[in-house]
Formats: sequence, structure tokens, C-alpha cells
Amino acid sequence: MGKVALVTVIAIDGPAGSGKSTVARAVAGRLGIAYLDTGAMYRSVALAAIRHGIDPADTERVGAVARAIRLDLGAEGTVHVDGFDATIEIRGPEVTRAVSVVAANPEVRTELRERQRRWVDQAGGGVLEGRDIGTVVFPDADLKVYLDAKPEVRAARRSREVTDLSYETVAADLARRDALDQGRDDSPLTVAGDAVVIDTSDLGVDDIVERIVGLLR
Ligand code: DC
Repeated sequence: MGKVALVTVIAIDGPAGSGKSTVARAVAGRLGIAYLDTGAMYRSVALAAIRHGIDPADTERVGAVARAIRLDLGAEGTVHVDGFDATIEIRGPEVTRAVSVVAANPEVRTELRERQRRWVDQAGGGVLEGRDIGTVVFPDADLKVYLDAKPEVRAARRSREVTDLSYETVAADLARRDALDQGRDDSPLTVAGDAVVIDTSDLGVDDIVERIVGLLR
């Protein structure tokens, strides 16, 4: 009989608009395992800092916010921050502008990395979506996938989600966030050496999910 893995971790990393959230959620659904959107955690810390009137660039105070915050990420994608429903607000422009600097804060990363590992222990494995899951948080993940797509495709996807901003604004913001996520010192966005890279520019969600599930077999 083959060895039964007690904990299966699937890491899905990639830039904004690469299709990570849709795909990660669908893969988790197909496999009947838990799903964690780690970007929502960074967004929640950014929102809590803003609400407390703290400068997002204040490393020490934002680090303290990350350690103190109560975070509840629901299976349906709901996010509660210190008991408040923040599902919509964490996707808003104010948080989106502030989140890159918060995500570059090593104190925040240390805390959220620990929380992500505890989440896996408690859930008994799952699909985690982010920027550094395969490279830093779970370097021994059972499967690492890096999703990417052409910049104009990613910007078009994001701009369909954020209807109140022009395509140009969304594209510029995406390019700025890419540069910050890839250029930071602590766990920058990069492709893990053993990750399977999938360009999602011309693929449908079902095809990508099939490919990922197929890689597990
Ligand atoms: O995936 P997203 O756009 O919701 O992520 C929000 C921000 O958080 C993004 O600027 C990158 C950062 N992030 C990160 O640094 N590490 C992760 N594991 C997930 C997100």
C-alpha cells in the first residue's frame, strides 16, 4: 500500500491578475480540501493599520498590529478583521495602495507566515495562494504552481473586477505592485525552482484546474 500523506500542501503563487484566486479556490473545491488566501491576510493588516490611523510604512507599529489582529477567513471568502466584516473593504483602492508597503514589512511577514503554518496544521493541509508560499512558507509543499499571464491580460482581468477605475489606472497600479512585490528584500515574488509554471493568458479556468489536479496524480 502507498504511503498516505496526512498533510497535503499545494502552493499557488504568482502576480496579481494571474488567476490565482479563482484557480486556487477551484482546486481546493475539486479536492475537497481547505483554501487560504494569504493576500487577504496582508490586506487585513493594511486595513487595520489604516483604521487605527497608523502610517502603513511605520514598520514597528504595523508589526504590532499584525501580531494583535484577530483574523477570521471564512470558507466562502468572507474576511472578518477584529470582529468586523471587512470582505469588501480589503479589496478597495485605499487598502490596495497601502498593501505593498505592509507586505514588505519583515515583522508583518514573520507573523503572517507563522499564522499560515498554524492554519495548515489545524486544517490538515490545503491550497494556499500567495507570493511566497512555495519559496518561503512551505518550501516542502507537495505541489508548487506558479501562475503567470501577460501584463495586459492581468490588467484587463483586474479592471473587470474594479469597475470604478479606468483600465490605465488599474494597469499602472498593477505594474507598481509587481515591482514592489518582486523588488522587496523579504520573500520577494519569484518562481520556486521546483514550481510548475503555467501561463494562464489563453487558458480557461477549467483547463488550468484539470492540469493542476493532474499533476498530483
Ligand atoms: O493577492 P493580493 O493582490 O490580494 O495580495 C495583496 C498584497 O499582498 C500584494 O501586494 C502582495 C502581498 N502578498 C505577499 O506579499 N505575500 C503573500 N503570500 C500574499 C500576498
